[in-house]
Amino acid sequence: MEGIDFPSMYRPEMFEFEGIPMIHYVTDNWENVQNFKARPDDILIATYPKAGTTWVSYMLDLLYFGNTAPERQTSLPIYMRVPFLESAFPVIPTGVELADNLPTTPRLIKTHLPVQLVPKSFWEQNCRVVYIARNAKDNAVSYFHFNRMNMGQPEPGDWSTFLKNYMDGKSVYGPWYDHVCGYWEKTTYSNIHYMFFEDMVENTGREVEHLCSFLGLSTPSEEKERITKFIHFDSMKENNMTNYSDVKVMDFKISPFMRKGKVGDWKNHFTVAQNEQFDELYKQKMKNTTLQFRTEV
Ligand code: PPS
Repeated sequence: MEGIDFPSMYRPEMFEFEGIPMIHYVTDNWENVQNFKARPDDILIATYPKAGTTWVSYMLDLLYFGNTAPERQTSLPIYMRVPFLESAFPVIPTGVELADNLPTTPRLIKTHLPVQLVPKSFWEQNCRVVYIARNAKDNAVSYFHFNRMNMGQPEPGDWSTFLKNYMDGKSVYGPWYDHVCGYWEKTTYSNIHYMFFEDMVENTGREVEHLCSFLGLSTPSEEKERITKFIHFDSMKENNMTNYSDVKVMDFKISPFMRKGKVGDWKNHFTVAQNEQFDELYKQKMKNTTLQFRTEV
């Protein structure tokens, strides 16, 4: 594995696609994405970017394959074990190709698509969907640093420019509000497990338990404890198979992928005025939902 790099295509432009701001790396393979043939035992890990996708991907990978295929843990980076469905990056196969060729059962598949753009076969096959949401403020901070360090993302500008765009829904994958509410309000579909980043930080072991109940897994407690240790932020940051260190398009000198992994880092970024404006807009955008977030634990 040479790692992902494509210097000639750094800093893609955002454009509107199916009503959502997108970059071509996630739309170039659109027809194949929309026609993706999900299988009934596939598990879709869905998130707005930077909400804990990698964390839960690794959690699931260990729960299913930690013992049965231990060689995966040392030979394949997490993004190869859990394909990013809509991705079409140079250098590695598309997410659809990776998913189609996954030898595992179940297949673990990652997406950032908003609920209305998820390929219909996932719903038709009644696949299990694990959605992870993170409070809007920390999500914004994490996304800002990610866009700074990842040359495959649009240039974020300074913090206030990025935050303004984020509040206006002008980030890749569109407005945070619509994304988190879209999955929350998909009441016509019961096979979703909705998780919160803040709950995972507060008590990872409890969230592993909840996930096992949803999946019908009877993993022994010692194994769950072992997994909880493996997926600790410090271990994942050190682990070259989960920390994205071979992805050359990311400049870790600017910011690491596994950056802080905390709840409440927004307080180190938002000015008092930015926080007031954010809260005001948040109230309006979230006035019709029962969905609640914690911005500290
Ligand atoms: S991506 O690019 O959308 O797939 O990113 P994603 O994995 O969703 O989110 C990255 C953020 O999740 C944090 N993270 C963790 N926090 C705590 N514990 C563990 N184990 C963990 N694994 C990933 C990661 O540090 C990013 O958040 P920030 O706030 O930037 O540190």
